[in-house]
Order: sequence, then structure tokens, then C-alpha cells
Amino acid sequence: MSVAPRVSDGKVTVPAILSRKSLSSASSQSKPKITCLTAYDFPMARLLDEAGVDMLLVGDSVGMVVLGYDSTLPVTFDEILHHTRAVRRGTRRALVVADMPYGSFHVSIEESVRNAVRLIKEGGAEAVKIEGGERRIELIARLVEAEIPVMGHVGLTPQSIHALGGFHVQGKTAEAARQLERDARAVESAGAFSVVLESVPRDLAARITQKLHIPTIGIGAGPDCDGQVLVIHDLLGLTQGHKPKFARQYADLSGEISRAVSSYCEDVHAGTFPSDAESFHSTAELRDYLRTPALIKQRT
Ligand code: KIV
Repeated sequence: MSVAPRVSDGKVTVPAILSRKSLSSASSQSKPKITCLTAYDFPMARLLDEAGVDMLLVGDSVGMVVLGYDSTLPVTFDEILHHTRAVRRGTRRALVVADMPYGSFHVSIEESVRNAVRLIKEGGAEAVKIEGGERRIELIARLVEAEIPVMGHVGLTPQSIHALGGFHVQGKTAEAARQLERDARAVESAGAFSVVLESVPRDLAARITQKLHIPTIGIGAGPDCDGQVLVIHDLLGLTQGHKPKFARQYADLSGEISRAVSSYCEDVHAGTFPSDAESFHSTAELRDYLRTPALIKQRT
């Protein structure tokens, strides 16, 4: 069951995100950049929402950072739906965007629309994200027609990892840059309200940002995009193994968790946890009872 967000002061909506496009107003005053982070569960969604993040993306990166898969490809529709519901319950202000996982929008337009509708109706998402450019025009248009706001995603699209041959920066040649520009424009013309640019040279991302009328949300695409997105586990220092160079780490929660858990184990082994103050105490009646001989025969 989804919980409808309360539209109150400061609720981030799709029109509010569109209005944050840097070049959308004649005024030369710059607008605050859009902040987006991934979230996969209730407590993290609540913390990020309360900290003022504009958009929470239930990314299929959940497969790699939470579920232990080697790539995002095995992530199922039901897994995204489950995590979207949890994020919805923890979010009041931010816009909740659910990622369409690999396979959930590749069979037919009808099935893709049906899946996206479930993310809105049952998951409580307010928008969906779709990887791919020109080849998604029809799908994005159909979703928009069905009142489902769409965030596009071009550049490095991890669901195309086999076709791309690895996690490489995209748009490095003139021909590749032209294709990337076509992809971004296609997503916009199909009706998307924003587009993620992933692993793109900063000058190319800046040019695309200048050309589009919808906000660009960068990840590994330099500082000139209209907003930024990071995987929350990278930001908090919870990711094991390789971290891309754009994934700035703001905390070392892995170290904090290891220290806390080691201290707990030491205290249990030493008998110092729990203390008397952390224990419940007997009532007078229970103390009387405990003084009477045990009814159960002791083994000799
Ligand atoms: O799945 C995800 O987390 C994403 C972001 C990195 C954009 O697609």
C-alpha cells in the first residue's frame, strides 16, 4: 500500500524541479542546484529527507550496494517495488523517483507502462527513471501520457554494461558526443522532466546542460549540471572495493560500524554489557518468590 505524500510547504514536486533549471529564467540570478541521493530503506530516506535532499532515487544500484549482486542486471521489479515502498514511508518533502530495473521496460510498451504504474500506485513513487536515449522516445512519451513523470538517464547506463564493454567514460569522441547530445535531446523531446548524465566529460555535460530546457543531474559529469546525484553508500563510506573518482566520500561509516561492533563484542565477552543500569529489576513480589525454594527438582 502506498502512502500519499502530504503536499505541504516546501514539498518538492516535478514542476518545482523543472523551475530549478539554471537557464530557465531571464533573471541572471543563479538558482540553487538540485540535490539528489539514492535511498533504499525507511531510516535512510527519513534522514536524507530531513537533511533537505530534493530528490530520493530508489536506484537499481540497490543491487550492488545492498543486495550483493555484481551488477545492476539481476535486480528485479519486485525488489525495486519493495524498496520504493520503504523509501516512500520515510519521505515527506523530497520527490521520490523509482528506477525501472533491467527487464522491466524491455519487452513491450504495454508491459513497461503497467510496471511503471505499479511503482506509482503501489510503491508511492512520484516519478520513474529510465535508462537510454533515442531508443526510449516512444516509451517515455507513453509514460508521460499516462501521467507518469520520467527522469531520463544517458551517458554511462549500467544496464547496458555488456553492450558498452565496461564502466567507461562516455562521449569521448566527436561522434560519441554527437550521439550523446541526440540522446539527451530525445529524452527531453519525449517529455522527460530531467535527465541524469553519467560519466561524461565535464565540457560536454556543460554543453548539454546549456542546450536542454530540462534540468541535467550529473554523476561523474562535472560541476556545470543543474544538479548532482550520488549513491548514498559511496558518500557515507559504506561501499567496499572500487570507488569511482567522482564519488566523494563525506564520512567513514564502515570504520564507525566496525569500531562500534568490536566494542560491543568486547563488552559482552568481558561481562560488562549489559550493566545493572541496563537491566530490569524485580518487584517485591518477585523477590519473595525468588527466595522460595525452586519447585523444579534440581539434578544431582
Ligand atoms: O541506480 C542508481 O543509483 C543510478 C544513479 C547512480 C543515477 O542510476
